[in-house]
Amino acid sequence: MIIKHLSLTNFRNYGRLDIDFGPSVNIIYGDNAQGKTNIIEAISVASCLSSHRTVKDKEMVAFGSSGYEISMQCENEYDNSFADFYVGYFVPEGNESSSNHAKRVLKQDGFIIPKLSEYVGVCNTVIFAPEDLNLVKGAPAVRRRYLNLLISKVSPSYINLLNQCRRLIDQKNLCLKSSDAASGQPDALDFWDYPLSQVSAEIVIKRYLFTCMLSKKARDSHLSISQGLEELSVRYTTISGCIDLIEDFLEERDMFDVFIARELSVALYAELRGILGNYIYSKLVSSRRYDLERGSSTSGVQKDDLEILLNGLPMKQYSSQGQQRSAALSLKLSELQIVRDCVASYPILLLDDVFSELDVNRRVSLISGMVDAQIFITCTDRSYIEKELDALLSSTVKSNFYHVKDGNVEVS
Ligand SMILES: Nc1ncnc2c1ncn2[C@@H]1O[C@H](COP(=O)(O)OP(=O)(O)OP(=O)(O)O)[C@@H](O)[C@H]1O
Ligand SMILES: [Mg+2]
Repeated sequence: MIIKHLSLTNFRNYGRLDIDFGPSVNIIYGDNAQGKTNIIEAISVASCLSSHRTVKDKEMVAFGSSGYEISMQCENEYDNSFADFYVGYFVPEGNESSSNHAKRVLKQDGFIIPKLSEYVGVCNTVIFAPEDLNLVKGAPAVRRRYLNLLISKVSPSYINLLNQCRRLIDQKNLCLKSSDAASGQPDALDFWDYPLSQVSAEIVIKRYLFTCMLSKKARDSHLSISQGLEELSVRYTTISGCIDLIEDFLEERDMFDVFIARELSVALYAELRGILGNYIYSKLVSSRRYDLERGSSTSGVQKDDLEILLNGLPMKQYSSQGQQRSAALSLKLSELQIVRDCVASYPILLLDDVFSELDVNRRVSLISGMVDAQIFITCTDRSYIEKELDALLSSTVKSNFYHVKDGNVEVS
């Protein structure tokens, strides 16, 4: 996909913006705090419904306004067809202080899209930003979000599983706080635990699969970035015993490679899901007493994490700043490669403030293989980026420049 045009209304520091983009490299430059990242963020929201800076839509609404709108006109480079994307977020009048009643509206080609899973995955972007460093040293929620987003881009129906799971956990937590469960009728929890175990099994299999793909790609990227010195690996951690169960199942049938290639037969997949679902159910039942004491679900996929290891040691405790930066880049490169390999069209590359920080080796890792993709780069120093790109890209690749000043953009 290629973004041809972007329109913003009351998004961050833009009252109104209308801007055409070029099909290859678009460089958005200007001083600090002028609105460069806001453009990248808007593209990310309109494509993947995700901001790299916030999970709160309300923060993206221009101060003093009651909603934002983002429209994007895109062209599919393979068949020259066009697609329009629209995200609107509105807080009803008189209710500006509360986001409870706020409404998000999604449209594609002018038609309302009721389900997130039907919106994402059509126009994919992969963003590289300073916040990526949190992938290594941040809280588990940051890594879960990264993994969830990656899976959703390749397999949008995964979002439905996440929503089902979230709803079940919320309802189960209400039940845990209610008198029924607390007054010695923990069987009331069966109503939630059974469906929760089935949805969780599907989520665990998907997360395990994508972590295996990720670990393999991240290892290769990192070996090349570190000139063969460092071995990066990623391990999925979830309800105890689940990973062993999946690995034993695949090993017994000699199906690991088939599984990683996403070619496991429907029957075997259903068998694995069934066994895992029963196992998770037994784990949920066995943690009921503890859940009741705490008044919330203490065990489940809502606690999942990724363990990132460098030469076998957990990076959170033992890595330097530079190693964390490189590992974050390797993880994002792997995301890019997985989306590129699994989805028919190239993802759009969004580089917010990271390009000038990378050394030549890392820049080549990032840009090579992406020369056909549309790329957006933000920076403060236009001439520096111009020189660097000249060295990396062929002279046939045309770059477009946009100067941002106080929420206004000029093509230059
Ligand atoms: N909801 C909002 N409404 C209005 N303005 C906002 C909102 N959120 C952020 N801003 C403003 O947007 C500007 C920051 O924009 P942005 O993050 O895009 O800057 P930038 O050009 O990327 O800067 P830097 O080079 O420092 O990264 C700031 O002036 C900030 O006050
Ligand atoms: Mg910025």
